[in-house]
Amino acid sequence: LFGLPDQKPHERVLLAADAETGLKAILAVHSTARGPAFGGCRFWTYDNELAALNDALRLSQGMSLKNALADLPFGGGKAVIIKPAGDFDRPALFAAFGRAVQSLQGAYITAEDVGTTTADMLGMQAHTQFVSGIPRAGAFGGDPSPKTAWGVFVSIEAGVRLHLKRSSLDGVRVALQGLGAVGWHLAEFLHKAGAKLVVADVDAAKVARAQEQLGATAVGIHEILSADVDVLAPCALGASLNASSIPTIRAQLIAGAANNQLATVEDGDTLQQRGICYLPDYLVNAGGIISVAREYRNEGEESAVMAEVSRIGERVAELLERVKAEGTTPGRAADAWARSKLVKPV
Ligand code: NAI
Repeated sequence: LFGLPDQKPHERVLLAADAETGLKAILAVHSTARGPAFGGCRFWTYDNELAALNDALRLSQGMSLKNALADLPFGGGKAVIIKPAGDFDRPALFAAFGRAVQSLQGAYITAEDVGTTTADMLGMQAHTQFVSGIPRAGAFGGDPSPKTAWGVFVSIEAGVRLHLKRSSLDGVRVALQGLGAVGWHLAEFLHKAGAKLVVADVDAAKVARAQEQLGATAVGIHEILSADVDVLAPCALGASLNASSIPTIRAQLIAGAANNQLATVEDGDTLQQRGICYLPDYLVNAGGIISVAREYRNEGEESAVMAEVSRIGERVAELLERVKAEGTTPGRAADAWARSKLVKPV
């Protein structure tokens, strides 16, 4: 429980259970060195409680690195709610979760993640002030996924320029694994920039929509990682880059929204040996947390958020410089860079 290999131990982990609503949640505060721990709440079906705990621990330490690299005045945290097996009252369940968040007295701030919605966050507002990602009349806020997609897009642009040595996305072939909240917005940005899309999703309706509206080529979910493309954008779930998928990858650049894409750190080394440039997930997918963090602090306007998210592209360029200078992989360079920032911002 207290610290995964080569990682700082978590400061605090709260196991929250509420018999009346069926809530079983894990709220993991990895680090508050930079400020309160900020990270979304995942609502998911897990095989067992240990699997949920493992997810919360991994995701929360990822948030520490993500928030540090994005220069946010926040530490890293994450919550997971284990989806109840039978019928349940969703607003009541999230109300109980909101009370658990409140009990941490601001050490952890929550927002959307996989399986949670803006409506869940809105409902929680009556139970905790430590929640963000809520639409506001006349101001930016709410669903972070378009901002996440924009951050991935500017990362792909930077990677295409610096690694593929191409001046624009026009004609660049991009494979998108997952056309959900982030994947769909990313597909639209890429299409507008002239990229040729190859897509896969378990949901056939989303694939059909991409074919009709964006001229995308559809492939099966088992073919997408090895598609004959220039860029691969994993936007479904984690660990897609592993010992069995990596030898089949034909893309030269990988940048996507999914958290924890590399199954192991060594998988990043194998990608590098194959000449494939992998842009670390927590660097490129920070657009959403940048958005909810600004919303939480009531800072700036939409254009300011977009400008801050666009700076992710500059960080990609700086990371690739560090990789060259240090003779390491992007994953290891990003880890070292983020860890050097796990201190209170000045
Ligand atoms: P989502 O649930 O809206 O979309 C995921 C999509 O992937 C769905 O359309 C699903 O049908 C599809 N999918 C699932 N398994 C698949 C498979 N094996 N092959 C192909 N498609 C598959 O989730 P969302 O919000 O778009 O997030 C995607 C990823 O990005 C997640 O890993 C999430 O943690 C991460 N992320 C999302 C952020 C956000 O702002 N929404 C912020 C940072 C990270």
